[in-house]
Amino acid sequence: MMARTPLFAGNWKMHKNVKETVDFLDAFLPMAKGISSEIAFCPPFTSLWAAAEKIRGSGIKLGAQNMHWEDKGAFTGEISPLMLKEIPCDYVIIGHSERRQYFAETDETVNKKVKSAIKYGITPIICVGESLEQREKGKTLSVVLNQVEKALFEVEIKDGCDLVFAYEPIWAIGTGKVASPSDAQEVIGAIRKKLSQLYGEKLSQRIRILYGGSVKPENIKELMAQPDIDGALVGGASLDAKTFYKIASYES
Ligand code: 13P
Repeated sequence: MMARTPLFAGNWKMHKNVKETVDFLDAFLPMAKGISSEIAFCPPFTSLWAAAEKIRGSGIKLGAQNMHWEDKGAFTGEISPLMLKEIPCDYVIIGHSERRQYFAETDETVNKKVKSAIKYGITPIICVGESLEQREKGKTLSVVLNQVEKALFEVEIKDGCDLVFAYEPIWAIGTGKVASPSDAQEVIGAIRKKLSQLYGEKLSQRIRILYGGSVKPENIKELMAQPDIDGALVGGASLDAKTFYKIASYES
């Protein structure tokens, strides 16, 4: 099996203005030298530029939390992939459940954004996950695999490094209720199997699949011990430099 470099991405959601972003990175950068995994931060759009200046040369990556699929046009309030490239952003979170729930994101818009991000060389972190009701009705795998398939409709990939998935059960986001490592592995293993049906075994082994939902220093080690979990998309616990450092350095 190909070794996949773990990725720990902080999704700051609507937190941290420019000053708070700079203060965070001032605290985090000295710690980052001891981390062998890949690290990415996804601050709000308004903090991206300041974050890019700060992390230059550090090896830390930057991501946005959303984007439009068009490269320009009359789309008031939207941000284009070319604008993200200019920062530059390496990643963009696509289809987070908060966007699906509050901002009318659909499997179709997710698919358009995934295609556009790959076209412009920005790696999408594609979020999928079931609600509590869907889980209780035993629909978890069908819901999640359907989201995966629709996100990847007519999406061509080159080497498996062109995209990342994040399995984020909605009931685990911001609730303190983390999925058990075996439940997370079951879904993430099923996502990898679906990817192998779509792109072949070899490419599927190169695609990183993260877990997200109440990740903390106390639960990351067990999650990372699962064979198909390649890192985490971290919300609340990524807002504090020391806490995020503890998560990203789970090995030590
Ligand atoms: P929490 O880590 O706060 O549960 O959020 C997870 C998440 O939504 C990351 O995208």
